[in-house]
Amino acid sequence: MTGRDWHAYWNQRTVDPDIDTSAALRQVGKTVLGNPIEAGQLQILADHIADTLSLEPSDNAVDLGCGNGLLTSLLAPYVRSVLALDYSVPLIEVARRHFPRKTIRYEVADLRNIGCRDFSLTEFNKAWCCEVLQHLSSDEALGMLRELLAGLPAGGLVLACGIPDQAKLRSFYNSPERWALYERNLYLGQEQIGHWWHRDELMEIVGKAGGRMRFVEPPETFYTSHYRFDVLIERQP
Ligand SMILES: C[S@@+](CC[C@H](N)C(=O)[O-])C[C@H]1O[C@@H](n2cnc3c(N)ncnc32)[C@H](O)[C@@H]1O
Repeated sequence: MTGRDWHAYWNQRTVDPDIDTSAALRQVGKTVLGNPIEAGQLQILADHIADTLSLEPSDNAVDLGCGNGLLTSLLAPYVRSVLALDYSVPLIEVARRHFPRKTIRYEVADLRNIGCRDFSLTEFNKAWCCEVLQHLSSDEALGMLRELLAGLPAGGLVLACGIPDQAKLRSFYNSPERWALYERNLYLGQEQIGHWWHRDELMEIVGKAGGRMRFVEPPETFYTSHYRFDVLIERQP
């Protein structure tokens, strides 16, 4: 359903010893037409996540699909600790080398299997998952949310942000040329984004996983707000 082998794709990232912010942004796909976004855009995203989750110094958080740690390191100062998980070995290495903080623990882990790891999710009360759900099928996302919500305390919060919106596909592929590219890539099983979610589909799996959710509007000034959406999920008491 998600087309490409995304695990292989993210494991092919390189570990550049001299990586700068532009290269780090590019490495986790934070680009527009191939160019890295401005650093200010990343700050808009970090502020939005911190506000929406009401991050506090007493929170212990999980970053689900942390990539190279660029975003993790911006959010870590808001909370007591972050467990940052990603299945890309090179990206976790970049994170450990270039974006370390005493309060962040970076671990290689597959979100499709988080229940079987040597850390306990019961220590955490908040989580964010940014631009990751496009790489998970409905069943995989359901499995991840079930594990996660079972570990969080009642009232624990998860913000899934940057979810590609099926209803806005044409806002992203917004010219005949781009649409033709989309159709060609889809045919080849190489669509460049991954799983474009229907909002109802996500609402259904959140309910099955034991959560309730509301849609959150991403900041209008954020560069993906015209084709992605966010959801705030709360563990049901
Ligand atoms: C577009 S990047 C976003 C990285 C980071 N969240 C950010 O916003 O900068 C997507 C990340 O999701 C990770 N990812 C995708 N599927 C995953 C899975 N099943 N388990 C762990 N990580 C996954 C990829 O390795 C990649 O680092």
